Amino acid sequence: MKDAAPQTIYLKDYSTFGYIVEHVDLTFKLHPTATRVLSKIRFAPNPDATDRRFFLHGEQLKLISAKIDGKAVAPEMVDGGLQADVPDTAFIWEAEVEINPAANTALEGLYMSNGMYCTQCEAEGFRKITFYPDRPDVMAVFDVRVEADANNTPVMLSNGNGVSKGDGFATWSDPWPKPAYLFALVAGNLIAHTDQFTTKSGTAVDLAIWVRPGDEGKCAFGMEALKKSMTWDEEVYGREYDLDEFNIVAVDDFNMGAMENKGLNIFNSSCVLASPETATDGNFERIEAIIAHEYFHNWTGNRITCRDWFQLCLKEGLTVFRDAQFTADMRSEPVKRIDDVIALRARQFPEDQGPLSHAVRPESFQEINNFYTATIYEKGAEVIGMLKTLVGDAAYAKALDLYFERHDGQACTIEDWIKVFEDSTGRDLTQFKLWYSQSGTPEVTVREEYNGETFTLHLSQKSAPTPGQDEKHPQVIPVAVGLLNTDGEEVQPTMALELSKAEQSFSFEGHTTRPIPSVLRGFSAPVILKQDIDNARRAFLLAHDTDPFNRWEAGRDLARDSLLGTILEGAPHNTAYLDGLKALLCDETLDPAYRALMLGQPSQSELAGIIHKMGHIPDPAAIHTASEALRDAKARAFADMLPDLYAKNQVEGPFSPEAGPAGKRSLANAALALVTRLDGGATASQQYAHADNMTLQLAALSALIDAGKGASALQAFYDQWQSDRLVMDKWFSLQVMHAKPEDSATVARTLTQHADFEMKNPNRFRSVMGVLAMNHAGFHHQSGAAYALLADWLIKLDPINPQTTARMCSAFQTWKRYDAHRQSLIKEQLERIATQSNLSRDTSEMVGRILDA
Ligand code: BES
Ligand code: ZN
Repeated sequence: MKDAAPQTIYLKDYSTFGYIVEHVDLTFKLHPTATRVLSKIRFAPNPDATDRRFFLHGEQLKLISAKIDGKAVAPEMVDGGLQADVPDTAFIWEAEVEINPAANTALEGLYMSNGMYCTQCEAEGFRKITFYPDRPDVMAVFDVRVEADANNTPVMLSNGNGVSKGDGFATWSDPWPKPAYLFALVAGNLIAHTDQFTTKSGTAVDLAIWVRPGDEGKCAFGMEALKKSMTWDEEVYGREYDLDEFNIVAVDDFNMGAMENKGLNIFNSSCVLASPETATDGNFERIEAIIAHEYFHNWTGNRITCRDWFQLCLKEGLTVFRDAQFTADMRSEPVKRIDDVIALRARQFPEDQGPLSHAVRPESFQEINNFYTATIYEKGAEVIGMLKTLVGDAAYAKALDLYFERHDGQACTIEDWIKVFEDSTGRDLTQFKLWYSQSGTPEVTVREEYNGETFTLHLSQKSAPTPGQDEKHPQVIPVAVGLLNTDGEEVQPTMALELSKAEQSFSFEGHTTRPIPSVLRGFSAPVILKQDIDNARRAFLLAHDTDPFNRWEAGRDLARDSLLGTILEGAPHNTAYLDGLKALLCDETLDPAYRALMLGQPSQSELAGIIHKMGHIPDPAAIHTASEALRDAKARAFADMLPDLYAKNQVEGPFSPEAGPAGKRSLANAALALVTRLDGGATASQQYAHADNMTLQLAALSALIDAGKGASALQAFYDQWQSDRLVMDKWFSLQVMHAKPEDSATVARTLTQHADFEMKNPNRFRSVMGVLAMNHAGFHHQSGAAYALLADWLIKLDPINPQTTARMCSAFQTWKRYDAHRQSLIKEQLERIATQSNLSRDTSEMVGRILDA
């Protein structure tokens, strides 16, 4: 049978499936090239449905036999599945199919990774395992039997609780009804790192992280993160775990970061395995967050799931919001907020301001895999943060209790979610709901007025047209504001103004001296703030703002304006910025991690976006030169204090990945990067020679490459780590990341010829091609060499792994920002991709939408 032909699916066309699935029994007879899957499914007519057509999804399946109520039938094979005539009362469907996991390079459905069987079913992968109504609103209880060769495949896992196991088989039972996208099976030669957790109500849960032999030593941190997540969800959301086992498996070949399958989470090994020698502080933090994220899905995603894929933000936005709260609690709230806003501006803003712009809840799609986007995830989480700000913390907690109580076991919509807030607060959220349907990034403009007594903020909002949405309506925007006096004291603590009209004014009475406003504190809404204030005001806020986010933002704005001045007008660097920053760096009352963030500056691609929005054409080479020059200026301006800053932030004693020591390392490494501009790499060589953890080793290696002295360290690094796949990914990506603009394409091309380059492994592919797209000046080098190289490799990868190919097409989404020469070079490559024969549905949708810009 054929895969479904490309077609557009609409939210408005939703209709319930004609049947209820009362029970699913699956037997897997595993074989690398010929696995047999036997299904026995009890269906009953769904009284709520009108359409009784019996259609089961199925793709790339060889049907061996089918029966209804024990009698052989010959179903009709149709586009994307099969159809059959069925009784009008409950019946049993049985089918046997054959699939080929070894040939499955798309890594969706049942596939093999390093001799291990594993599955990935979200969003629509279960239909590559057997015939089934593969839609999230069909929830069922599954029993699974796995059979395999006991010698090669001693461990066999599936969802729920283990029931029995013996030589060559294991059986599993999951008592919680679930959609097929949460199905999972893993089998292979695996070793467990085990632990136990006792829930608040006293149930003991067996925990295990399963890895390939050799990786046992990299599980301890992930296990601690899992236990912290379980405790946190009990304490903060009152949510307990609901099975006797919780298993996590690390897999080397995985398209995404990780997957929340019920009771059997599957992780990209890069997102769970860590040791001090092989993982950076950034890796540790990400692992903690992603383990939390997938664990939190047990309630927000699994127990309450999505009615259809248009509701994806219902689980992903909420779960990202929850994992951000968790990280803020485990580490530093301001540092987490700043990191998230940096990521939002780097990934979501360009998406929302380009051809791929779409609503947090889109109304149509072709390929759902293309909609696991920054908008659905990160903007989806921002929308929840705004809702919490608007109703307050207590009302948020009450609404969530009602959500879990009312909808446990259901497949829900955004309407259900909003209704819970309306019912528990009595508030009308009709206008707020626009955040789910209206795409684009609103701009909020601030004007101040003062009459000796009353201070007034005049706010206005505006949204530019986005694809398919020419007219925009005013949204409800919580604008958190505080007021300071000229001594830097807070005369009005943070309060959320509710901007809901196109223009609105907010007055503060009784101010006999003119207060200084701090606007959009904590980045209270995902908008672009336009505020006409001078450098002196920004320097004041950098020194005094009592809101840590806005204090950082003041420095960021100074850096941005300094860079724009250089790029657009050839102006020298802003001394107010460098002076203000210097004072902060020496302030030892400030968290080192926060000071390290202060040292950062807007990325080159962010600057290109800002320049484009200002109505100019960004020149990647000029942006690169100015960014480097500002770093040089920092190195010179801080020369007298950098050695001390570096020395004071060295961490003594055994390695700990906790926020405190990690923050010191990040500040020391930021200082190292600047010192290297002065000492030509002497300090970095020392650090490289003595580094006993990956955070220090990698920062030293980066600095050496930047100083033009990386060759021998790169070779040493290779010799030391060539048998560790995750560390080798860093070796590949570092070289592309730090390549000079004119060399980037050549460096990347040469790495693709390296014996250790494996295009079929998504991590390795991304560590070269994904990183090339992120080296802004290199990717956009005027030769067009990087555009052509990326296109070559996307064309090669598409038949192998459409999902990973399609996601990487977004490297081209900003093409309309650039000059006519670059636009024509990019267009040529996009058209070359688009005209490949047999292009996947995934990639063809992405390239088509980008070309439509
Ligand atoms: N459910 C997703 C994984 C997924 C995404 C499966 C797309 C199929 C298609 C999972 O919960 C997730 O969101 N993972 C993120 C990481 C998370 C910390 C935001 C990922 O894999 O990047
Ligand atoms: Zn998720």
